Amino acid sequence: MRSIWCVILGLFLLVRGIEGWKRGVPAVKFFEYAGISCRAHSVSIEDFGGIGDGKTSNTRAFHDAIAHLARFSDRGGGLLYVPAGRWLTATFNLTSHFTLYLDKDAVILASKDIRDWPLAKPLPSYGRGREAPGDRYASFIFGTNLTDVIITGNGGTINGQGKVWWRKFRHGKLNYTRPHLVEFMYSNSVQISNLTLLNSPFWTLHPVYSSNIIIQGMRILAPVKSPNTDGIDPDSCTNTKIEDVHIVSGDDCIAVKSGWDEYGIQYGMPTKHLVIRRLTCISPYSAMIALGSEMSGGIEDVRAEDITAINTESGIRIKTAMGRGGYVKGIYAKGMKMHTMKWAFWMNGNYGSHPDSHYNPKARPVIQGINYRDIMAENVMMAGQLQGISGDPFTGICISNATISMNPKSKEAPWSCMDVQGIASGVTPRPCNELIHKKAVTCVFPEPLPIEDVKVKRCVYKGKHHP
Ligand SMILES: *[C@@H]1O[C@H](CO)[C@@H](O)[C@H](O)[C@H]1NC(C)=O
Ligand SMILES: *[C@@H]1O[C@H](CO)[C@@H](O)[C@H](O)[C@H]1NC(C)=O
Ligand SMILES: *[C@@H]1O[C@H](CO)[C@@H](O)[C@H](O)[C@H]1NC(C)=O
Ligand SMILES: *[C@@H]1O[C@H](CO)[C@@H](O)[C@H](O)[C@H]1NC(C)=O
Ligand SMILES: *[C@@H]1O[C@H](CO)[C@@H](O)[C@H](O)[C@H]1NC(C)=O
Repeated sequence: MRSIWCVILGLFLLVRGIEGWKRGVPAVKFFEYAGISCRAHSVSIEDFGGIGDGKTSNTRAFHDAIAHLARFSDRGGGLLYVPAGRWLTATFNLTSHFTLYLDKDAVILASKDIRDWPLAKPLPSYGRGREAPGDRYASFIFGTNLTDVIITGNGGTINGQGKVWWRKFRHGKLNYTRPHLVEFMYSNSVQISNLTLLNSPFWTLHPVYSSNIIIQGMRILAPVKSPNTDGIDPDSCTNTKIEDVHIVSGDDCIAVKSGWDEYGIQYGMPTKHLVIRRLTCISPYSAMIALGSEMSGGIEDVRAEDITAINTESGIRIKTAMGRGGYVKGIYAKGMKMHTMKWAFWMNGNYGSHPDSHYNPKARPVIQGINYRDIMAENVMMAGQLQGISGDPFTGICISNATISMNPKSKEAPWSCMDVQGIASGVTPRPCNELIHKKAVTCVFPEPLPIEDVKVKRCVYKGKHHP
């Protein structure tokens, strides 16, 4: 009897001892990370009552922590540290001169309750929600009119729990357009790096009307049959660098956009100076890189280098239609590897899909100056399907040094071309006659852009660590 009491007392003292040590001596957590700017202040989500059990809502904690750090925007900026755990929350907004940092075992979990998703106005360059007229659901992590924002970590995850949305979408149960996982609007100097973005309800990472964006070292994953889970959608953005990203998605891995028909023409904001490097893509039903179909504000100066597609429908795809207006010009790709594809090259001028009946059916898109070189493709059903618009041909196409080996099951002619003009050099199998065969031509690839030289700094995080 006495010995049992001794054991209980001993355990009690031991537990008290651990508690006392926990309260008295918070460990200092220390690590380095790469950022476009470092921050003078930092807090942990736990300082604001956050509980990372995957069940408790942290909506208040995220809101309060970011509101607190917003006060340091003009005093060295603030960092919100999200430690290991599963942090459930409703949508939340970021602030300027701010870093959201995820531990490698941190998961920010989007609420599955649709009431946690407020509505937002449609984008002016789309005139309506992409999937339904009127408003759209607000993006899970959102920033507007910001400058100098970072979302990074050492491999943590932002999980959109998109399945509930995909199911509702498929059953026609949504009255508004699905939300994006991460969206920046009217923002400048944005870095998204070293994280996994998982199961977005709709397009995953959507910078729009923004500039100077660095997206680096990311994994973006969604089931290959999930609806419209594009990886990255630079939309009416200037100076964007995307590098070292691995994307598996149910729609285009990268979809470059700039507004939709009459709304995009009127808004008139192009996507230009976009660099994509070291991308790997798996998307059996869509493209590695799509230009369009919403391109009414124009797409200009896109460079893609060292890009790999595996088990993907097409490589670089241009999609547009009469009524879009706008342009796609100055597109450059160098060093493309493709394996198991339906089409290596694909262009369509008949994509359709209009926002309403007020678009101008005479608004012609201009597709001009498309340069692809140093390409190796294997197990391809069709080398190229290049289909411009009758009376509005796609011009200035150049393809050089491309070796495409066909899937033995392919029965079609390797190339099919209509309403396109350009040249080809050193391409096998031999392209269609619309591409005039030249000897020893190398398609152009321009000099680097300033955004390619932006150096990130080594930042140090030193903060209380709650054991
Ligand atoms: C986020 O910002 C937008 C635009 O300023 C605002 O309408 C919305 O209410 C904010 N959302 C949250 C969750 O604070
Ligand atoms: C954000 O910037 C846009 C474009 O400059 C401007 O029209 C809008 O009024 C700004 N919104 C806020 C809340 O400052
Ligand atoms: C990125 O995350 C990995 C772990 O996934 C880590 O080892 C690396 O240091 C991080 N890189 C930067 C630049 O923070
Ligand atoms: C959509 O609208 C209908 C009719 O107003 C309503 O019954 C339904 O609950 C709405 N669905 C959602 C997901 O809000
Ligand atoms: C042709 O492309 C391959 C990659 O597919 C590359 O290794 C090779 O150097 C290129 N040849 C020339 C002449 O540029």
